[in-house]
Amino acid sequence: MKNKRLRSQDWFGKEGKDGFIYRAWMKNQGIPADFFEGKPVIGICNTWSELTPCNAHFRDLAESVKKGVLEAGGFPVEFPVMSLGETLIKPTAMLYRNLASMDVEESIRANPVDGVVLLCGCDKTTPSLIMGACSVDIPTLVISGGPMLKGHWRGKDIGTSDVWRFAEAYKLGEISQKEFVEAEACMARTQGHCAVMGTASTMATMVEALGLSLPNNAAIPAADARRKVISQLSGRRIVDMVKEDLTLSKVLTRKAFENAIMINAAIGGSTNFVIHLLAIAGRIGVELNIEDFDKYSHNVPLLANIQPSGEFFMEDLYYAGGLPAVIKELASIIHQDALTVNGKTMGENCEDAEKFDLNIISSLENPFKPESGIVVVKGNLAPNGAVIKPSAATPKLMKHRGQAVVFETIEDYHARIDDPALEIDENSIMVLKNVGPKGYPGMAEVGNMGIPKKLLLKGVKDMVRISDGRMSGTGFGTVVLHVSPEAAAGGTLAFVQNGDWISLDVENRSLELEVSPEELEQRKLNWQPLDLGINRGYVNLYIKHVEQAHLGADMDFLKGKSGSTVTRDSH
Ligand code: FES
Repeated sequence: MKNKRLRSQDWFGKEGKDGFIYRAWMKNQGIPADFFEGKPVIGICNTWSELTPCNAHFRDLAESVKKGVLEAGGFPVEFPVMSLGETLIKPTAMLYRNLASMDVEESIRANPVDGVVLLCGCDKTTPSLIMGACSVDIPTLVISGGPMLKGHWRGKDIGTSDVWRFAEAYKLGEISQKEFVEAEACMARTQGHCAVMGTASTMATMVEALGLSLPNNAAIPAADARRKVISQLSGRRIVDMVKEDLTLSKVLTRKAFENAIMINAAIGGSTNFVIHLLAIAGRIGVELNIEDFDKYSHNVPLLANIQPSGEFFMEDLYYAGGLPAVIKELASIIHQDALTVNGKTMGENCEDAEKFDLNIISSLENPFKPESGIVVVKGNLAPNGAVIKPSAATPKLMKHRGQAVVFETIEDYHARIDDPALEIDENSIMVLKNVGPKGYPGMAEVGNMGIPKKLLLKGVKDMVRISDGRMSGTGFGTVVLHVSPEAAAGGTLAFVQNGDWISLDVENRSLELEVSPEELEQRKLNWQPLDLGINRGYVNLYIKHVEQAHLGADMDFLKGKSGSTVTRDSH
């Protein structure tokens, strides 16, 4: 135990008028006087919202955290922050990730908390909370909300990845409107976030892989009583973290980030992982670049057989041994000495883990798929890089040369994709512009644009698709995403025309537009960025300051941290 003065004492330990005010208004909640006498104050940063259905059970989790904090001698205070529900927020929750992170950062710094527990679940709630907390850097522990139980529909196990399959089957008339609607309630049938290795599960895995949670945080289902247990234990632990002054930056070292990249490859995590991990590294001050994702993941095979890269669901991963069993399998390649929030190393946390089903958690010697991770391709079409997820792609399309069919905006795509006159075949490469950070704005998850109906009817299941947007972690296909610079920033993508030849070679990490530099210069002469007509408010600020995808799409003025010190009082 260190003798560091608690920052909360700069509020509650004050004498005179200021101390009176800081304590008195808290006492109206029925808080005893001795709670202000040097107990660690633990903020419970809650993204509960009925508009974020994946996080709608978080009031229960917060109560479990409070029990743990009280048991350990702390003073729990729950506070709300902006919550981002992936399914309801328009135009895309990603537009508000950075805004939510500002709310989190300022809420933590401005208030008398000595440590903080972050309650996150649905996709963007995890990176936004961690980014904000990094910029303050006090002891911080993360609890994920847990995945839903898998859905059941007409004798089949289903999850979010089936949304794309249902949509295509409905488009082709293979299922009726009644069946389509019936499947909705069958899929999302319990509390929790998406049950597959989509972005939320990827983020929960990232949290555990970075050492920011207690072991097994990633996969315990939301509906499982053990989710409450881990919340209570986390409440106990954060009090000790305050006493040990175990701040975020002591856990989030370069080794922790490298571990997260390797573990993400082994579980087949979402491509959104790249953008969020880069943004978190930028806040805490760890040097990380887009090439690191390829470098640290290309030798890691896919060990976990979870949708969308495999067949099973997050609850199955938990029953098969959970993330600790996957990490133990990687013992020979990860940094076992990386510190985690429980004060133990990653290696110590996982040394007793067991695997109970080799169909779900395979071995390094006999992996579920040899190719995994995130591949970064570069070339004149993406000078700063673009990403592709090989485990979700079609092997024969990973080296492909085809002619571009260009959609200038997502609206243009919707208007023409099923036009029988559209000149497109299975060898074409679909190119979508203006869905990047500035161009959408907010970098929409539309990169895995659906295949034209006329090709679906011919049995075409996958095509090469390229854009400056993102893809849902539950999506799949040979999809090149996050092209940087984006079209709206004047990247080469802006100058692709129908019929241009493009070559993708994943093995050689290249993405080339076969147009001469002279011709490209010519095309640039008449180019104008799209006028989105946005002149005020947060979105205007976002467009002006958001960085490109290869840097994590954070705002330039939010990088780094301002620490936890506040020198002036409010009275
Ligand atoms: Fe919230 Fe998938 S919609 S996690």
